[in-house]
Amino acid sequence: MRYQSQKLAREYFWAALPLFFLQVVFGILASIKYVWGFDPLLNSIPFNVARTIHLNLLVFWLLLALMGATYYMVADEIQTEIYSIRLARIQLGILLASGVAAILGYFFQWSFGMPFLEQPTLIKVVIVVGALIFLYNIAMTMFRNHHQLTGTTATLLGGMVMLAVMFLFGIPFMPNLSTQYYFWWWVIHLWVEGAWELIAAALVAWALIKLTGVSRRRVEGWVFAEVVLVLLTGIIGTGHHYYWIGTPHYWLWWGAIFSAAEPLPIMLMLVDAVRSLLKARTLATVNTMALAWLGASAFVHFMGAGVWGFGQTLPQINRWTHGTQITASHGHFAFWGAYGMLAIALMYAILPEISGRKQRNGAEGLSFSAFVCLNLSMIFMVMALLIAGIVQVYLQRVMGLDFLEVQNQLRLWLAVRLVAGGVFTVGAVLLLGDLYRLARPLPAAGSA
Ligand code: HEM
Ligand code: HEM
Ligand SMILES: [Fe+2]
Repeated sequence: MRYQSQKLAREYFWAALPLFFLQVVFGILASIKYVWGFDPLLNSIPFNVARTIHLNLLVFWLLLALMGATYYMVADEIQTEIYSIRLARIQLGILLASGVAAILGYFFQWSFGMPFLEQPTLIKVVIVVGALIFLYNIAMTMFRNHHQLTGTTATLLGGMVMLAVMFLFGIPFMPNLSTQYYFWWWVIHLWVEGAWELIAAALVAWALIKLTGVSRRRVEGWVFAEVVLVLLTGIIGTGHHYYWIGTPHYWLWWGAIFSAAEPLPIMLMLVDAVRSLLKARTLATVNTMALAWLGASAFVHFMGAGVWGFGQTLPQINRWTHGTQITASHGHFAFWGAYGMLAIALMYAILPEISGRKQRNGAEGLSFSAFVCLNLSMIFMVMALLIAGIVQVYLQRVMGLDFLEVQNQLRLWLAVRLVAGGVFTVGAVLLLGDLYRLARPLPAAGSA
């Protein structure tokens, strides 16, 4: 770490990690309700509230972690201090205050209603203010030193601007449900299959250059190809959500063709990551855990988004699988692989640099246990949901059984998900312990 302002990343990570843990707790609460016949929390935290908080915390901690990593990465790339540490702290305060207010509000049914975007309008406006401060701070840092602008930082800023602009389409209330959901997907789909992919491509590229010593020119060539392909396929690929919500018929074609091509850039990212990781074998010191999380993330990103997404994206299939546990299986797999694991990889890459606590060469016990616990249990959760979803499609959509009767038949697999979720929670505790250990300043280090 060369610049004092890069320590901002640690503040953002410290804020993000407890939120990740809370997200998992609310996931457990929501999934207990699928398994147990009685619900003591029915009146205080009903399913919809637990689910809402689970989803809001997911987006919240991921954005804080990615923003923190952005502050670190931009200073590193542009070779300068961040424009204003104060603004970055004010931004963190605003985002935390609005996020916590939103979550408290959900307990009292103060909600806009659309999944992921349940924040009431007032809170959304405050979030926009937080986002504008962030963009201003990053843009000022970059443009005051524009001769240092690199392909990866430009991509990162582009992704962040796209993220903020798309959020605006989730703010207005529209009385027509089809219109409202038409634009809801401009946020949800164009985030995870557009803006966030650009951000991920940029941060992965930077981490690969840092951790493996691979040449910048080669990695930036890949990033360019990925960005072009993500935008080319992802924007019109939004149509894979327009099959059944009252939009014109042509979306069946457009959605199918463009979204079917969406795994291409994701595959490029995987190939790029594997090629670069192989290079790390020749280095004297290796940040093993950061590389393990980064490589595993590229693989699970490809499986969860590319394979699981592709599997249900054609209308001939989606007509049967739409809105079932198969969707939930894909949602967990993709979010975890593409963004959850990436955020964790970045924390493992950045925190030792800030604290001066160099990781020992080779995985330490705690780091390794957290890695195995989290990823194995996530695979079990995703598989249990997939099986539940297949049973659900067959009984409900093929045989025509009643919805609630089918839910009863799924109970076994949802119980497996709950058990796996328990192991995931243990993994989350181990991870938090490990990352806090890594983040603690060294007692003797003057720079920490
Ligand atoms: C990292 C990238 C991705 C993430 C985080 C992600 C996440 C999600 C989530 C959370 C949903 C559920 C939305 C809801 O109805 O509440 C969803 C739905 C869907 N995703 Fe993805 N996704 C990603 C990439 C992809 C890709 C690349 C494809 C296609 C190749 C795809 C195809 C689909 C389809 C077809 C649905 C609708 C499922 C249904 O009809 O119920 N996704 N995705
Ligand atoms: C202990 C671990 C977890 C448990 C028990 C759990 C449980 C749940 C439950 C019960 C739901 C509601 C599903 C429904 O509406 O039917 C849900 C939704 C969701 N969770 Fe989790 N979750 C866990 C961890 C995670 C993690 C780590 C991520 C991402 C990084 C995640 C992402 C999501 C997403 C994207 C949805 C919405 C899916 C959709 O709309 O189809 N969850 N989760
Ligand atoms: Fe999508």
